Amino acid sequence: MTTVDGQPVGGQPAPGQCLRTWLRDLGHLAPKKGCDAGDCGACTVLVDGEPTHSCVFPAVRAADADITTAAGLGSPGALSPVQQSFVDAAGFQCGFCTAGFVVTATALGDVPEADLGRSFKGNLCRCTGYRSVRDALLGRGGACGPGAGPGTAFGASVSAPAGPRVVSGGEPYTMDVAPDAARPTLHVALLRSPHPHARIVAVDTARAEALPGVRLVLTHHDAPTFRYSTARHESRDDDPDDTRLLDDVVRHVGQRVAVVVADSMAIARAATLLIEVGYEPLPAVFEPEAARQPGAPLLHGDKVASVARIAEPTRNVVAQSHGEVGDTARGLAEAVATVRGTWRTARVTHASLETHGARGWVDDDGRLVVRTSTQVPFLVRDELARILSLDADRVRVVTARVGGGFGGKQELLVEDVVGLAVLRLTERGLLLPGQAVQLELTREEQFTAVPCRHPMQVSVELGADAHGVLTAMVVDVLTDTGAYGNHAPGVMFHGTHESIALYRCANKRLDAEAVYTNNLPSGAFRGYGLGQVIFAIESALDELAREVGLTPAEVRRRNAVRPGDALVVNGAADVDLVFGSYGLDQCLDLVEAALAAGDGDPVPADTAGPGAVGWLVGEGLAAGMIATIPPRGHHAEARVTAYPDGEVVVGVGTTEFGNGTSTVHVQLAADELGVGVDRVRLEQSDTDLVGYDTGAYGSTGSVVAGSAVVQAARSVRAELDRLRAGGAVPTEPVTATGSSDGALRSLAFSVQGFRVAVAPATGEVRILKSVQAVDAGVVINPEQLRGQVEGGVAQGIGSALWEEMVLRDGEVLTKTLRDYRVPQLGDVPPTEVLYADTYDTLGPRGAKSMSEAPYNPVAPALANAVRDATGVRPCEIPMSRDRVWRLLQTRNDQENPDEQ
Ligand code: FES
Repeated sequence: MTTVDGQPVGGQPAPGQCLRTWLRDLGHLAPKKGCDAGDCGACTVLVDGEPTHSCVFPAVRAADADITTAAGLGSPGALSPVQQSFVDAAGFQCGFCTAGFVVTATALGDVPEADLGRSFKGNLCRCTGYRSVRDALLGRGGACGPGAGPGTAFGASVSAPAGPRVVSGGEPYTMDVAPDAARPTLHVALLRSPHPHARIVAVDTARAEALPGVRLVLTHHDAPTFRYSTARHESRDDDPDDTRLLDDVVRHVGQRVAVVVADSMAIARAATLLIEVGYEPLPAVFEPEAARQPGAPLLHGDKVASVARIAEPTRNVVAQSHGEVGDTARGLAEAVATVRGTWRTARVTHASLETHGARGWVDDDGRLVVRTSTQVPFLVRDELARILSLDADRVRVVTARVGGGFGGKQELLVEDVVGLAVLRLTERGLLLPGQAVQLELTREEQFTAVPCRHPMQVSVELGADAHGVLTAMVVDVLTDTGAYGNHAPGVMFHGTHESIALYRCANKRLDAEAVYTNNLPSGAFRGYGLGQVIFAIESALDELAREVGLTPAEVRRRNAVRPGDALVVNGAADVDLVFGSYGLDQCLDLVEAALAAGDGDPVPADTAGPGAVGWLVGEGLAAGMIATIPPRGHHAEARVTAYPDGEVVVGVGTTEFGNGTSTVHVQLAADELGVGVDRVRLEQSDTDLVGYDTGAYGSTGSVVAGSAVVQAARSVRAELDRLRAGGAVPTEPVTATGSSDGALRSLAFSVQGFRVAVAPATGEVRILKSVQAVDAGVVINPEQLRGQVEGGVAQGIGSALWEEMVLRDGEVLTKTLRDYRVPQLGDVPPTEVLYADTYDTLGPRGAKSMSEAPYNPVAPALANAVRDATGVRPCEIPMSRDRVWRLLQTRNDQENPDEQ
């Protein structure tokens, strides 16, 4: 007899079904679907005590086995020691990986610290950077706690409220819904384009529709003609209207061609293969420089620029910025030192362990309900209503805990398909009230069809006087937005803003264009373009420091903006962006001192054998500045209710995807009302239940929604004080609302430093020391902030050293986490995290945001350290072994020209 978590189970799995899917079909939802390939470990269960990736384990092989999931190891009220250790060490952020880690750790028992990397290479975490996971695995918890009582929440390392549910596999993510035998879920599969550019001239769905179990097939003939952007912003005019739900022209490999809804995923997938599509291939272009040249194939040449909001559709340019302040030619002529170069960044993906997914149904009132893994439920609701021609109040969007976002879930990628399918099935009487239609992207679809980070080419020319003071700054940026312009204008403008505005210089010029190509669309990614542009500017500045004989920290001290300076790019300065506080100077001091301390890992021993030579050691640093709120409006409403029994309920619209805002909001409310955090309950991210929120992006969860929570809680406190002053004992709930519109925006800073060793024989880069100092204002939750920084640095190291999506003629070839090379536990070094001591006059109780900032300076700091070690400048990321090795050959060729 087969048992799951000690309970006997009956029935047989479907032919070919993996153990994970079978378990989830039975309602055992602790094992998560992360990759389908045995790479991520989110689905790990014990099969007769053996840790097993259930996504690659045939369910039939589990016959008569005892299967244990994380839910079988403990429960929120009775956690196992391993589960408790993950709570105590704050060993998770989004938590999608955590149940798998808990299962593996339980099976392996005590693992020596030196063996953790090897033992847990089958469990990936994208959020934490692994330090807190290591602490949890080694039982080094205790950094976090439940809060010591009333008045102690603010500034304390309070545990995430969802912790006990996350570690025991009971926290429901979007797809974690118990099966309903009376209303079985229908499944969606998508037929996708094999061509990078083609017109669909014929489509025959008859054979697919005839397949037993198929409920619905949709093509462009069935789709609304309304055009929109998958990118979501407060102002929908921020992005071009260039996308149709199903189009008769495909512009990249992997674009949707048809939708199949069926009784099972297997049937839906089989039906997609029966759809016959006639394509007329069109010329394609894959290089952005070629795409903007005369005569290049046009992707959206049929669109009217002013209507679709595309800068130059006849040149494939979706957005552009050209302008100069001062006189850069004169500034360069007057300089005593100049530096010029071109830097390139690869295409990288978010690799959130939870893929995009949504479930939709019609409720008892005939309204469309969509439960979706999104960072922006209100923006999804509003655009979904437009796409489907519904009033916004006829749509409800619900978001559960999101399994990682990093900007990738600031797109509307699955909700439109699910919504259309629900409406069409309902019109045809094929869907029961409450019966759900579900679309869950595979890991391969995440790689081949979900927008990635914009690859960029950035040319920089800097001039400086004899004191190292900038006299000219010339930046030219070309971004590849792929087939659609979602986030292209925003990423281009933001990426070139705080990166250039960080430095005072009388003469600046910026030329930037975002260009369509027949590649996978690019989109929002942590840092929103800053990471790419900062890589170039901070590298160039490092080179300039060498030219004028300054240290990396000193050249930044002499040139970085300070309170009172205007924030200038290539035109008028933003009037709503101000210095609410300033900690860059402290960050530079802290990192410089940390590197000078000389600690960290020792230089590796030399490898023996022919050709072995000594490791080259060097240090580098880089700085970053980021606005704490995106421009053009970001709104949040909060509602706080204090009940007579002491319970407090906080309602916020923003979502929790591992950024920790839920914990921060609970802390803020508890502290304002003088109650323990255990008395505060959160309601969030349901467009019916809570007030409007633009969404969880731009690092706004703490600053914007947090300000609204503080405002609401203070109003409640004032009313309670008024009642008590009058001698009354509150017998009814007291409720107040607060709001924030992000009208005045502050600036946050971060400085990253590295010491590295480079092996000349192989090009391997080893990080001996990593340190980041951040200016996050007043720290609300030190342990949580530390985790955000460590996670950002780890993601930055991945982008800088290993991660790269490989495309050939527009087709993505890296389709698995293994091929793409997401950092494993053993890959990521520890990062020392230091805090500047500042108080922000604009943020809630002095705090600033810190979700994106830690990522941005990582790549240039690493490149600067490699340059310091090797004497040659890396101008392309990732700095993979082969690239660094080839770079070293150019140095050798220059040093030994006669040997060539
Ligand atoms: Fe590990 Fe999010 S906490 S993947």
